[in-house]
Amino acid sequence: MINRYGKLASWVYHIDKPIGRSFGDQEYYRQRLEQCRRGPILEPAVGNGRLLVPLIEAGFSVEGFDASAEMLEYCQDECRKRKLTVSLTQQTFETFAYDKHFAAIIMPAGSFQLIANTLSAGAVLKRFYDHLLPDGSLIVDLDPIGSFLGPSGSVRSWTTDDGDLLTLTDHRVETNYVAQTTLSHLRYEHWQGGNLTTTELDLFKLRWWGVNEFVLALNAAGFVDVVVSGNYQHGQAPQKDDDIISFEARRPTGR
Ligand SMILES: C[S@@+](CC[C@H](N)C(=O)[O-])C[C@H]1O[C@@H](n2cnc3c(N)ncnc32)[C@H](O)[C@@H]1O
Repeated sequence: MINRYGKLASWVYHIDKPIGRSFGDQEYYRQRLEQCRRGPILEPAVGNGRLLVPLIEAGFSVEGFDASAEMLEYCQDECRKRKLTVSLTQQTFETFAYDKHFAAIIMPAGSFQLIANTLSAGAVLKRFYDHLLPDGSLIVDLDPIGSFLGPSGSVRSWTTDDGDLLTLTDHRVETNYVAQTTLSHLRYEHWQGGNLTTTELDLFKLRWWGVNEFVLALNAAGFVDVVVSGNYQHGQAPQKDDDIISFEARRPTGR
């Protein structure tokens, strides 16, 4: 299975990107959501709740779904610790469904790029559109193309609360310039007292988008008033070395 965020991957994510860790996105999303129509907010691919938990604590009404049971468990634990009652469900981008509509749908951290097939991506955008209230907003972050094509083979490590070692070796095994995808082997290892206790190999596939290509995809799904911003400066057109590109689009009223 691709992009599965299994047990070790989720553990590493939660240590590396704990609740509240910001890449500039916590502040940006909070500021943007204050400008959006009031109402419930959906975070697809909510993960461990890095962004959802602080948004709820700030008074926003956010719920989320994720494909990974392990990631959701971290999110549920963090909500429980803070006595927050939150709707979290195990669903996928491709099939999620709610019997209500949202004022905003948010996708930080480049999660949309986990949808590696353009047909699926178009269908997911349409599904987002169908789940928004009229005048509701979709806000999506995409990593720029350059971030996909840098050096591969990195090894990173983290120490757990118990003093164990978690390592991640990242090997890009395929770059497809036609499909605009990269496939990486993410090898996670859990070391205890110098002994390897568990290892996990996650196949990780991502798709990069051109800026205008993504605007066209949003328009094709029915979205209007697309604003593209670089480095979390709302309304500032992205520059060539920007680290992140954000898209905000609106479901028109009356459609
Ligand atoms: C980069 S993490 C983002 C987590 C969180 N939104 C954040 O900003 O920290 C990507 C998340 O996407 C989830 N995911 C991967 N494929 C998915 C799919 N097809 N449907 C729903 N979630 C998926 C993973 O389980 C993971 O939790």
